[in-house]
Amino acid sequence: MLNKLKEISEQARQAINSVQTIQQIRDLQTRFLGRKSFLANASQSIASLAPEQRPLAGKTLNSVKKEIFSLLEEKQKSLQKQEQGIDISLPGFPVEIAGSHPLTNVINEICRVFEDLGFEVQQGSEIETEKYNFQALNIPLDHPSRDAFDTFYLQLPADRTQGRYLLRSHTSPSQIRIMEKRKPPLAVVVPGKVYRPDNVDASHSFMFHQIEGFAVDREINFSHLKGVLVEFGRRVFSADTRLRFRPHFFPFTEPSAEVDISCLLCSGKGCPVCKHSGWLEILGCGMIHPNVLRAVKINPAKFQGFAFGMGVERIAMLKYGISDIRLFFSNHKKFLRQFYEV
Ligand code: PHE
Repeated sequence: MLNKLKEISEQARQAINSVQTIQQIRDLQTRFLGRKSFLANASQSIASLAPEQRPLAGKTLNSVKKEIFSLLEEKQKSLQKQEQGIDISLPGFPVEIAGSHPLTNVINEICRVFEDLGFEVQQGSEIETEKYNFQALNIPLDHPSRDAFDTFYLQLPADRTQGRYLLRSHTSPSQIRIMEKRKPPLAVVVPGKVYRPDNVDASHSFMFHQIEGFAVDREINFSHLKGVLVEFGRRVFSADTRLRFRPHFFPFTEPSAEVDISCLLCSGKGCPVCKHSGWLEILGCGMIHPNVLRAVKINPAKFQGFAFGMGVERIAMLKYGISDIRLFFSNHKKFLRQFYEV
């Protein structure tokens, strides 16, 4: 009897090992544990054994049944897994690691440089009013210079004192917001989105990013502005970057300048990117206009300030050699992945 049980256990083990399908499992279940199987009917054979042999035979019978049952169950589970398409021998799914957007990286890098120079970083509001986007910045309602800041207006009832609501067309309103609340000395940079109803092409987008910067204190002069911007140029681009200040006009600064950096690609020798001039325009700046200081109740006889505003997309494009602004907003992973910082 014991030998017979051992034999069956051995047969079952081999048969289960070589099983390939769920159907074969069922067949083996019938063969070894089914109603007509030897094991199912073995209790009768045990009854006919000598009384002293019965306990061991009974015990063995039970353990063989249990063993076969659990082997079949195990095999069935692993076959079901394979049928559901899980094959542990296949390579796993790649884990996608997210990264920050190239514009985020450039904004963070520029802000970090200004933080090192003693500026704090603040946020402004993307929805503004005519008062903050224009009047307080010395841009009168009927002044032609408003054309330079073509604007999206919101379909909301206008504010009685601040005029129509709009999407800010530059980050300069944040100068007013901050100077209204706080007294000098101030040194602040404000990164953020701005909106202009431009037709989209390789170098224009109706939404883009600017970084505004300004400092107000007693005895601030144009040399401070130049010093800060030259240092910014050296740290963000390269140690040998040169800056060129060209006289310009902004209603909210006087004097005003546009600033060019020596071309990043040809170091100023002349190439297609700088249109053979050796220079690339990157920002506007100037000394804060006395009218702007007056609008926030700062006495221009006692305090002066400088301000600058730069376009982030343009700087990122120059820095990385990107030829189309639309790439920033297309969400193509192949493009974005090149800028992930790990
Ligand atoms: N706001 C200006 C623009 O969007 C840039 C600027 C900011 C110029 C601050 C001077 C001072 O073009």
